[in-house]
Amino acid sequence: MMDWGLKNRFSRIFRSDGRTVMLAVDHGYFLGPTTGLEDAARTIKPLLSYADALMPTRGVLRTSVDPASETPIVLRVSGGNSILSELSNEGITVSMEDAVRLNVAAVALSIYVGSPHEKQTLLNLTKLVDEGTRYGIPVLAVTAVGKDMVRDVRYLALCCRIAAELGAHCVKTYYCDGFEKLVKTCPVPLVMAGGKKLPEYEALELTYNAIKRGAAGVDMGRNIFQSDDPVAMIQAVRAVVHENAKPKEAYDLYNSLKRQSKRGKKSSGKSVTASKEEINKH
Ligand code: 5RP
Repeated sequence: MMDWGLKNRFSRIFRSDGRTVMLAVDHGYFLGPTTGLEDAARTIKPLLSYADALMPTRGVLRTSVDPASETPIVLRVSGGNSILSELSNEGITVSMEDAVRLNVAAVALSIYVGSPHEKQTLLNLTKLVDEGTRYGIPVLAVTAVGKDMVRDVRYLALCCRIAAELGAHCVKTYYCDGFEKLVKTCPVPLVMAGGKKLPEYEALELTYNAIKRGAAGVDMGRNIFQSDDPVAMIQAVRAVVHENAKPKEAYDLYNSLKRQSKRGKKSSGKSVTASKEEINKH
């Protein structure tokens, strides 16, 4: 059972259809200046109103996100590693007190099942769940980050189930064959991580497959902000997640918004995009 505050925060992230389009921009915490996020403020600004939630680090939140924005924040609170070191060697990097001060809707941390620091990251999760419960802040567990991971259903089901058993309120994981099994065996909502940049059609197809097989949405980064047209892409992803658009319909939408935006830029110097309401009607 969730307490009222926890439920309230949770429902700010997941819309009334039970789904979410979360925009992940936390990559810099171990990757440094990731392509597309070199100037995080510039990347985030035009995307923010299309995201149901934003997942930044504390540094990016304070420096690069408009505090007047109503988009709920899912704050990355694990780190202490880098791409040059053992990735699984993470700790908790933000106190719950500061998370409250930042008015976040949830906190997120990675667990590294099957890695050298498995136990440490799982205990980080339990500590965060205890503190989150005390303050009414839900916890998102991120699974299976790391370049050498075999991301098959057996492994991902193991990670997701462990995260849920330890108290995570939702889990982020990768898509795999047999994704419906992951969903079935994980008692909390699952959101799909996008992974490395794919051609737009393939990313929309991946999103469609995950939603069709029971994902409660996406927590996607590179496939949005590294797209040729990130604003068109996030709207196309929304169409799949919230309107059950087929990949081809979403891809057509992407192309049409991209064309409009190019025409708009040519005539006025500004980008032209559909409003959130328009896209939700699609
Ligand atoms: C890394 C993360 C990222 O937020 C995650 O990888 C999502 O972004 P992308 O869609 O680019 O994979 O949690 O630890």
